[in-house]
Amino acid sequence: SHHPTICYRPIQPSDLEVLERIHAEIFPIRYESEFFQSVVHERDIVSWAAVDRSRPNGHSDELIGFVTARIAMAKEAGIGDLLRYDPSKPDQTLVYILTLGVVETYRNLGIARSLIRQVIKYASSVPTCRAVYLHVISYNIPAIHLYKKMSFKCIRRLQGFYLINGQHYDSFLFVYYVNGG
Ligand code: ACO
Repeated sequence: SHHPTICYRPIQPSDLEVLERIHAEIFPIRYESEFFQSVVHERDIVSWAAVDRSRPNGHSDELIGFVTARIAMAKEAGIGDLLRYDPSKPDQTLVYILTLGVVETYRNLGIARSLIRQVIKYASSVPTCRAVYLHVISYNIPAIHLYKKMSFKCIRRLQGFYLINGQHYDSFLFVYYVNGG
């Protein structure tokens, strides 16, 4: 059957509409338009897009997957103890993954894995960076499998971290150490 040609590129302003639509489709949480603006204009956010170059009719540059992340100061992240925060190095940073998603028809092809690889490669290239970390809702089995398979360490369960439609859900905190973190 049809064979996709997946490429990775930066997210750009022309991705805004598709980026918002995919987030609305695949996440139970609503994100502010401010968030999407920050992503496409690279304001305090780093991000990567996956596209399928083999798609016809002008869709060959359309987002089919994405990862967004923010740089955080280790001392302000509130998890310094778990990240072996060293007070003698106050400029230590972390990369916090905000959202990761792949549209349904492109799942199980290794796209999320490649997107996370990009984030780890980027974090490793920032000398002050000690770790990549993220929260995932406790019932999200595909995502939990993905992070475990990529050697992220689950270091905490946070009771009632998410509030969705009036109901509380726990989250797991996953960490991937870089630069000897
Ligand atoms: N069941 C079990 N394990 C899975 C599944 C699944 N359905 N999907 C992926 N995995 C695991 C596997 O271990 C897989 O490795 P393998 O192929 O060697 O077995 C590994 O993840 C890598 O899979 P990919 O193909 O790279 O993952 P994919 O591109 O399908 O994307 C994702 C996974 C992002 C979780 C996708 O299912 C998705 O978009 N879900 C909806 C949005 C979401 O949950 N995002 C993550 C929320 S957490 C956050 O954003 C910080």
